[in-house]
Amino acid sequence: MSDSSGWIPVRPGNFNNTSIGLVIPRRMIYGTTMKADLEGQVALVTGAGRGIGRSISLALANAGVHVVLAARTVSQIEAVGREVRASGGTAAAVPTDLSKEQDIISLFSRVRDVHGKLDILVNNAGIGIFGKLIEFSPADFDKIIDVNLKAVFLCCQQAMKLMVGAGSGYIINISSVVGFKGYPNQSVYTASKHGVVGLTKSLAAEAQEHNIRVSVILPGGVDTDLVGKARPDLDRSVLMHPADIANTVLYLLSLSDRAAVDQIYVRRRKSSPF
Ligand SMILES: NC(=O)c1ccc[n+]([C@@H]2O[C@H](COP(=O)([O-])OP(=O)(O)OC[C@H]3O[C@@H](n4cnc5c(N)ncnc54)[C@H](OP(=O)(O)O)[C@@H]3O)[C@@H](O)[C@H]2O)c1
Repeated sequence: MSDSSGWIPVRPGNFNNTSIGLVIPRRMIYGTTMKADLEGQVALVTGAGRGIGRSISLALANAGVHVVLAARTVSQIEAVGREVRASGGTAAAVPTDLSKEQDIISLFSRVRDVHGKLDILVNNAGIGIFGKLIEFSPADFDKIIDVNLKAVFLCCQQAMKLMVGAGSGYIINISSVVGFKGYPNQSVYTASKHGVVGLTKSLAAEAQEHNIRVSVILPGGVDTDLVGKARPDLDRSVLMHPADIANTVLYLLSLSDRAAVDQIYVRRRKSSPF
């Protein structure tokens, strides 16, 4: 049985319950399907309080990763932290406004001070403000670029400082189908998501010599609060679930050291191929 977001409800302690001789693999709990040996790793997920970021955080925690949950709405990241702990994982909620450079610096200082390392960064947080370019306000342009692109740049920069020292790491950036396509009323959002792809391409080339992998995921429509604003015309029942993107993250992390994936376009099945 799964809830509307595709996740199977969790009962505390319902996995690895050897006292009754039954071991339910952690990966069954949230409906994710990939198996990656990530036990003991530390991940930072931005925008972890709801939607895609929540799913990615739960999936990583489910794989034994300690997850640092960053977003502005404290009640939401704390709720995700409770979900993680209820299923036997570990997570820490760190209230962060990614449009403020000082918040990003404090977030990474905390990761460095508490954990001394960062294995995985998922730059997931994003906002959408939609409307025709001719009417779009420069103030809204700045708001979108600050969160969707500048914060990704700043988080990558901070993460690289930790990962270069360690000689390993994985940065996964969440762009969008509008990282390579363009739809009406989405010009600035689209520009920000093209920017994430460009930043990822160049950073991947810089990071390679440090044994750090950098990938970008470009999702089509996923059933979250954001898509309701971006595409009110879409029938929500045909949208992907956040867990589809969480599974894509787990897939990337499940590959051997010999493999690297640059970008993945994941679309809802009823949209046009390619
Ligand atoms: N849903 C889709 O169809 C779709 C498709 C392609 C790509 N994407 C991308 O996927 C990512 C996640 O989107 P979603 O659909 O899951 O959206 P969502 O449900 O609206 O979640 C967005 C998350 O980002 C956080 N966030 C927004 N502004 C922030 C700020 N200034 N500082 C810190 N955190 C901030 C939000 O938390 P607070 O508001 O509490 O800060 C929230 O946790 C975004 O980058 C989006 O562009 C989504």
